[in-house]
Amino acid sequence: MAVQAIILAAGQGTRMKSKLPKVLHKVSGKSMLQHVLDNGRKSQVDQSTVVIGRGADMVRDSLPENVGTVVQKEQLGTGHAVMVAIDEIQEEGITLVLYGDAPLIRGETLDKLMAFHSREAHQATVLTAELEEPYGYGRIIRDDLGLLERIVEERDAKDQERKIKEINSGIYCFDSKELKNTLPKLDNDNAQGEYYLTDILEILKKQGKKVGAYITDDYEDIMAVNSRVQLAEVQKIMNRRILEKHMENGVTIVNTDNTYIEEEVIIGQDTIIEPGVMLKGKTIIGEEVFLTGNTVIVNSEIADRVTVENSTIKDSIVGEESKIGPYAYLRPKSTIGKRVKIGDFVEVKNSVIGDDSKAAHLAYIGDADIGKDVNIGCGVIFVNYDGVNKHRSTIKDHAFIGSNSNLVAPIVVEEYGYIACGSNITKQVPKGALAIERGEQHNIDGWVKRKFKNLEEEF
Ligand code: UD1
Ligand code: CA
Repeated sequence: MAVQAIILAAGQGTRMKSKLPKVLHKVSGKSMLQHVLDNGRKSQVDQSTVVIGRGADMVRDSLPENVGTVVQKEQLGTGHAVMVAIDEIQEEGITLVLYGDAPLIRGETLDKLMAFHSREAHQATVLTAELEEPYGYGRIIRDDLGLLERIVEERDAKDQERKIKEINSGIYCFDSKELKNTLPKLDNDNAQGEYYLTDILEILKKQGKKVGAYITDDYEDIMAVNSRVQLAEVQKIMNRRILEKHMENGVTIVNTDNTYIEEEVIIGQDTIIEPGVMLKGKTIIGEEVFLTGNTVIVNSEIADRVTVENSTIKDSIVGEESKIGPYAYLRPKSTIGKRVKIGDFVEVKNSVIGDDSKAAHLAYIGDADIGKDVNIGCGVIFVNYDGVNKHRSTIKDHAFIGSNSNLVAPIVVEEYGYIACGSNITKQVPKGALAIERGEQHNIDGWVKRKFKNLEEEF
């Protein structure tokens, strides 16, 4: 059966106080609208049409090509928004109506809604929830038999109706054909002068069609974002759901209140994540990895049994059993081998570092190809930039770069090449050679005694 979705996203979002259209605000690294689209796909949605209005161009540009859009020029209500999109909907099958600002709706909840709709042979089913604080939502009016009668908006409700705790989520499942036939019958005769989509249910019911409500027990699914405070609430729930998924898969998260993991991140079993860690983008973390301190990892791959302490890693790869940090910075396109140590205050950029190599402290490694078992001493700088161009350095296996040396690229240090500390290396270092480039040391005897008369007794 064809399942189509109309996603309402034309609203002004005034309360966000933002230049960005509301539905493009991100939750766990992804726009709210994209969450809704993805969740629809995780359910059974084949084709989505997004109703856009405020910031239409920006919203359209954010979407993948296979998602259709229609522009609602004036926001005349939820019913009107669906009218604008209805020509995109084919008669056969089911149409879901979703909100672009309600990103927590899960695929499995939509599946349950549709299963209920089919089982009960409804023409329309609304997703509802019972809330302790129903203020602001449309209320579900049921008849004496408990069957859905109609939905009344807060502003149009009588005092008695306002006491009802069952609310309209704004998410519906319609038989596409019935939706198409009934939409033209909506009017705007209500407190807001808007075309209310909610009225469809009452119209269908009066025509003798079967309509109903499916109550979800997870009210979080239906939360919509109207303000930055609600954005933060939704973010918190989304993050908690993501962390719970990882914990169920065998990842230890020591403190769920200050660990942030974005949706696409993959983490292996028995990895331990201590407080303060942020994992973003398409990051993959292996098994038995230990992440601690203010570690931020973005779009990177971390292999099994790696330790990362208080470090930032972006668009990079780290091999098995390597140790990163504390306070290391791996910038984009760094590929670190197995059992490598990148220690404190070491910055690596666009470089490959072979297995068992070490840069234990205070170094800059940029645009370098470093072999296996290479030792990069403290304070080594890869001088990769001449003010105009960047150049690469090649350091072959088992080389030893003494502390505080500058390697002026382009440069090659052959296998087992040794560089004495404090050298400025500008020429190739042959295999097994020791390169020293520094002024000779002179000792001037008795200089201190001559200079400082008061120290005479010391000598
Ligand atoms: C709507 C429902 C209410 C429900 C609530 C749940 C109606 C009449 N009321 O109320 O019963 O409890 O949602 O959150 O449907 N939108 C458009 N174009 C428009 C109007 C709205 O695209 O012309 C979009 C908005 O961007 C938003 C969504 O539809 O994403 C809901 O609109 P909003 O005005 O927030 O609806 P409510 O008045 O809260
Ligand atoms: Ca409204």
